[in-house]
Amino acid sequence: MSILITNIKELLQVREAGILKVTGSEMKDLPTLENAYLLIEHDTIVDYGTMENCIGITADETIDATGKIVLPTWCDSHTHIVYAGNREQEFVDRINGLSYEDIASRGGGILNSAETLQNTDEDTLYRQSIARVENIMQLGTGAIEIKSGYGLTTEAELKMLRVVKRIKEEYPIKVKATFLGAHALPKQFKDDKQGYLDLIITEMLPEIAKHQLAHYVDVFCEKGYFSLEDTDQILLAAKQYNLIPKIHVNQFNAFGGIALAVKHGALSVDHLEELDLEDITALKGSNTMPVALPSCSYFLSIPYTPGRQIIDSGLPLALATDYNPGSTPSGNMNFVVSTACIKMKLTPEEAINAATINGAYAMGISTEYGSITKGKKANVIITKNIPSYNYLPYAFGDNHIDQVLINGERI
Ligand code: NIG
Ligand code: FE
Repeated sequence: MSILITNIKELLQVREAGILKVTGSEMKDLPTLENAYLLIEHDTIVDYGTMENCIGITADETIDATGKIVLPTWCDSHTHIVYAGNREQEFVDRINGLSYEDIASRGGGILNSAETLQNTDEDTLYRQSIARVENIMQLGTGAIEIKSGYGLTTEAELKMLRVVKRIKEEYPIKVKATFLGAHALPKQFKDDKQGYLDLIITEMLPEIAKHQLAHYVDVFCEKGYFSLEDTDQILLAAKQYNLIPKIHVNQFNAFGGIALAVKHGALSVDHLEELDLEDITALKGSNTMPVALPSCSYFLSIPYTPGRQIIDSGLPLALATDYNPGSTPSGNMNFVVSTACIKMKLTPEEAINAATINGAYAMGISTEYGSITKGKKANVIITKNIPSYNYLPYAFGDNHIDQVLINGERI
């Protein structure tokens, strides 16, 4: 099966193979082709060019994209999309004056979601999760990282990761799995944190490795959750199973977690709403991608990650949703891109780079995803008729997507 998309008003993020991320001032450039075509065979991009060179190219199906923009699908490198139930009561509690921390300290928050998930059977958890996955594919997301961390028992963590595996097998969207056992301290370990760390290290990690249920390991490195020492222990143990770190860090406090993550060769450090100069210094010269989650800042009314400062310091930046029931009940990357422009002062070019090629890098898949490149997966968004790509973040809150192709399949 081949598809030829013709008369594309502007084809975005057109790159040669071998570019795995864009950094600092490079992020200002978004390479594009005007009046272009794109040729897809099966699940792969095989050719592109300007319309004058399209003569003689044929395919099983042709899509006329006159007036439309085509870009790679979003690469959402940080989600907790597999969860049970919702937490809308906590949302109302926050409106009425409680803080996110207040709710967590009275046993709500992550522990609330963990209890619901433990009491939800695997098929129900799968059905609730795929409804979200189907929705985000319609919204233009073609690759996603999914974390565990709402199980907090060996059985429930494995249940979450089996659901992630099932999504990976049954949906065309690219899925990468991350083990986040160290997301919160379960009630039964309230006075025995080391006991829970031991459970993660001696029971959860070996089981997950045995069944090959995760590529990455994550820790919520934060005051009141897991300290630098706790994080160090888990990352050392995870290294024995070749799990690469992607760390929740600097959401509420900056206390050296970024340097620790970099020391452990983290692929990404995520959140960074609180960031100091030592953090920037630690990231310089590393291969670790900083990841901003502006929908989380929006929903919790906490500071936005200083993305402008990160890019102006010569660092790369990725954007992701953080889709989860507590801090970001939204998986809409279009909103993330708009919010990054509006609130973090990224240019549209920077935001699109951050949400495609750099997002792919932050989940280790940028050799195959994140740009319009010959040989990469045919994951593309075809917009409605819009005046320019600036219109995508500008006209926020509206759906500018006409069609989405993932692995060359219409969604
Ligand atoms: O990334 N910060 C830690 N974890 C999630 C939120 C967890 C929750 O509230 O359920 C996050 O924001
Ligand atoms: Fe998160």
